[in-house]
Amino acid sequence: MSQQLHNKYPAISDLEYKAKRRIPHFAWEYLDSGTGVEDCVPRNRAAFSDVILTPKFMQGVFEPETKTSLFGVDYDLPFGVAPVGLTGLMWPAAEKILAKSAAQYRIPYTLSTVATEAPESIAPLVDGMGWFQLYPPRREALRKDILKRAKDNGFTTLVVTADVPTGSTRERQTRAGVTVPPKTGLRTVFHSAMRPRWTMETLRYGQPAFRGLEKYLDAKDMQNMTAFMVKELGGSLDWDYLKLVRDEWDGPIVLKGILDVEQAKMAVAAGLDGVVVSNHGGRQCDGVPASLHVLPEIKAAVGDDIKVLFDSGVRTGLDIIRAIALGADFVLLGRPFMYGVAALGHAGGNHVIEILSNDLRNNMSQLGCRRLDEFAARLRH
Ligand code: FNR
Repeated sequence: MSQQLHNKYPAISDLEYKAKRRIPHFAWEYLDSGTGVEDCVPRNRAAFSDVILTPKFMQGVFEPETKTSLFGVDYDLPFGVAPVGLTGLMWPAAEKILAKSAAQYRIPYTLSTVATEAPESIAPLVDGMGWFQLYPPRREALRKDILKRAKDNGFTTLVVTADVPTGSTRERQTRAGVTVPPKTGLRTVFHSAMRPRWTMETLRYGQPAFRGLEKYLDAKDMQNMTAFMVKELGGSLDWDYLKLVRDEWDGPIVLKGILDVEQAKMAVAAGLDGVVVSNHGGRQCDGVPASLHVLPEIKAAVGDDIKVLFDSGVRTGLDIIRAIALGADFVLLGRPFMYGVAALGHAGGNHVIEILSNDLRNNMSQLGCRRLDEFAARLRH
């Protein structure tokens, strides 16, 4: 890590602070907000504070081993980039920046269905570590087309998102005038003008709306892509639909947004390969449990029948240790990667990974853990 960057931005919170000051207000509100009165976002964070670990010292010299493998692919670190839609709204070409960083550090990168980049432009950058996230399209032709393009371009793992049965209220976004594509009203123009770096980059790069799906959008949809997302990409998922996806995708499939033991067991029965215990970073329903609180019971219910991935609220390497200690096989992060890119542009992806991996290694040493499977034994009950 560059010493200069480290000294200036030693933690994800430093990038968060800087990001807020580098991107327009509406882009920030899209990135940062939860939903409702935003109880769930702090609930996710508080859950981590409650997980206490007891160190075992006197271990002599050792180098912590952070490598792991998932669905037959070796990764250097036990965490990856969660799918984030409309990424270009927050920083132009953010997907490309993050895909390259992920490949460089050998961690997975998940491309969202509603990303600003098409699978074709990201695939060459991810070095076989690309995952693809599916918002289940209602139209069969659209589903088949998306899945085929993801597969043909070498995306290995399919992440099917279950926790968006409909759009979320996200009051902060409404207040800030977030629309897709962004409308050039007086307010958004004013907010963009306050952030000249973002504006210049965006003008150079183009419209921050999703690409690769254009042929499915009519002129009206193009004016209001949020409505298209709700109409076409939401609400269609059930176990029968998932069976179709299972038949059409011959690689690993994980179901994202699971908070319930019965649903996790049903995912095993449906022949899936994993679940992501997630509450979408507190962005869908404000009343749901912290993801970390339900992780142990879900792991206990599914055991090793299926991989248990985890996200929502992870901000440090120590948080990654805590999630793994409570049963996660792998951890994903959403906002932190975007804070990094919004704060530092091209240097942002690498810096976020450096912060997390340094903190992970440091805390493994602090706790006397050589390997990832030793964390659970440090839990203080
Ligand atoms: C998301 N998330 C998300 N999930 C998904 O399956 N498809 C998507 O397109 C998006 N888009 C998206 C946009 C933004 C701006 C955010 C912050 C999140 C949810 C994401 O994958 C992940 O579940 C959360 O971000 C995890 O919480 P943290 O790490 O942000 O606290």
